[in-house]
Amino acid sequence: MKKTMIALAVSMGFVATLVAADDSALREKAKSAGLLPIPAGVPEVAGNPVTREKIDLGRMLFMDPRLSASGVISCNTCHNLGMGGDDNLPTSVGHGWQTGPRNSPTVLNAVFNAAQFWDGRAEDLKAQAKGPVQAGVEMANKPENVVVTLKSIPEYVERFTKAFPNEPDPVTFDNMAKAIEAFEVTLVTPGSPFDDWIEGNDAAMTDEQKQGLDLYIEKGCSACHSGVNFGGQDYFPFGLITKPGADILPPGDKGRFQVTNTVSDEYVFRAGPLRNIALTAPYFHSGAVWDLGAAVALMGTAQLGTEISDEEAARIVAFLHALTGEQPTIEYPILPVETAETPRPDL
Ligand code: HEM
Ligand code: HEM
Repeated sequence: MKKTMIALAVSMGFVATLVAADDSALREKAKSAGLLPIPAGVPEVAGNPVTREKIDLGRMLFMDPRLSASGVISCNTCHNLGMGGDDNLPTSVGHGWQTGPRNSPTVLNAVFNAAQFWDGRAEDLKAQAKGPVQAGVEMANKPENVVVTLKSIPEYVERFTKAFPNEPDPVTFDNMAKAIEAFEVTLVTPGSPFDDWIEGNDAAMTDEQKQGLDLYIEKGCSACHSGVNFGGQDYFPFGLITKPGADILPPGDKGRFQVTNTVSDEYVFRAGPLRNIALTAPYFHSGAVWDLGAAVALMGTAQLGTEISDEEAARIVAFLHALTGEQPTIEYPILPVETAETPRPDL
C-alpha cells in the first residue's frame, strides 16, 4: 500500500513536472510569437497628459447624446461599454436610422492599436474622436454646433476649465477629443485568463485553451494578430490567399486603398484586434459572420490557405475566449441639464 502511494506520488509529481514544463515551453513560444500581456497602469498618450479631470469629463462626453445633431446618439450607442464596447450589429446604425458601411470595432483596448479604424485612417484616439461626431451616418453634427452646445451648459464650461487649466478658451472641439481620448485610455481589460497565464499562473487557462494557443501560433494566426492587442498593428489583404465572397468582402469597400490611393492597398484592412473578441460578434469589417468558429475557419482559407477542422477551430475559439479580460467598471455619469441657449435636437 505504502509502495503504491509512493509510486502514485512520484508519478503525480512527474505528471505535474511534465505539465509545468509544457506550460513554460508554451509560454516561451507565445512570447517569441509576440503575444504580450496588457501592461499595468494607464497608458500614456503623446501630447495629452491624462488627468482625473479629463477622464471624468471624457466619460461624460462619451455618454452624452447631445454631441450628435439629433440628441439621440452618443459614442456609447455604437460602443456600448456594457456589451464589450461595440454595438453587436453587422454595421452600425446612426443618424436618421441610416446604416453605415462598416462594423463598429470595440473601443476597449483601442489605445493599444497602432492606428484607428478598419483602414487605419486615424493616427490616434484623439484624431479618431472628431470623426464620428461629424460623420453623416453617425452623429451628423458640426464642430461649431458642438462647441455652442457645450458652452451653453455651465457645468461643461466649468469642467473644461478645470481639465484644461491656463487655456484662455478651454471649450473647443479639440479639447473635447482630448478629454474623450483620456477617458478611452482607461478602457483597458487586464486580468484575462491569458494574461494571468502568461504571467505565470499555469491554472489560469484550461488544457483546451492551451492547445488552442499552440494551434494559434502553429497555424500562423500570430503572424498577423500579435502584440498586446493580438492585432491592430498591421495591414493585410483580406483574402491574401483566397478572396471571401461578396457577402463577407463587399466589393464597394476597398479598405486601405481609400486612404493611400495605392492599387496594392485594394481590399487591405487592419488585422482586427482579438482581445474580448468573444464579446463582439458579428465579425469582420462587414459584420457578416456571427459565429466565431466560422470566422476562424474563414481566416484559415482566406489568409493562410489551409483548412482548419471543426475540432481545431473549437480549440482556437476556446483560446480566444481566454482573451476576455476584466471589463472596466463604468460609473454612469449624471449629465448636466441643457439651458435655453442649447441648440435644439435636429432629428
Ligand atoms: C470606430 C470611438 C461614435 C461607429 C471607432 C474607433 C474608436 C471609436 C476608438 C476605432 C476602433 C478601432 O479601430 O479599433 C468613438 C467615439 C465616438 C464614436 C469616441 C463618439 C465621439 C460612434 C458612433 C457610431 C460609431 C455614434 C455609430 C453610429 C463606429 C464604426 C467604426 C468606429 C462603424 C469603424 C469605422 C471604420 O473603420 O471606418 N470609434 N466612436 N462610432 N466607430 Fe466609433
Ligand atoms: C480579422 C482571427 C489569421 C489578417 C480577423 C477576425 C478574427 C480573426 C476573429 C475578425 C476580427 C473582428 O471582427 O473584430 C484569426 C485567426 C487566425 C487569423 C484565428 C488564424 C487561424 C490571420 C492572418 C492574417 C489575418 C494569417 C494576415 C495574413 C486579418 C485581417 C482581418 C482579420 C486583415 C480583418 C478582416 C476584415 O477586413 O474584416 N481575424 N485570424 N488573420 N484578420 Fe485574422
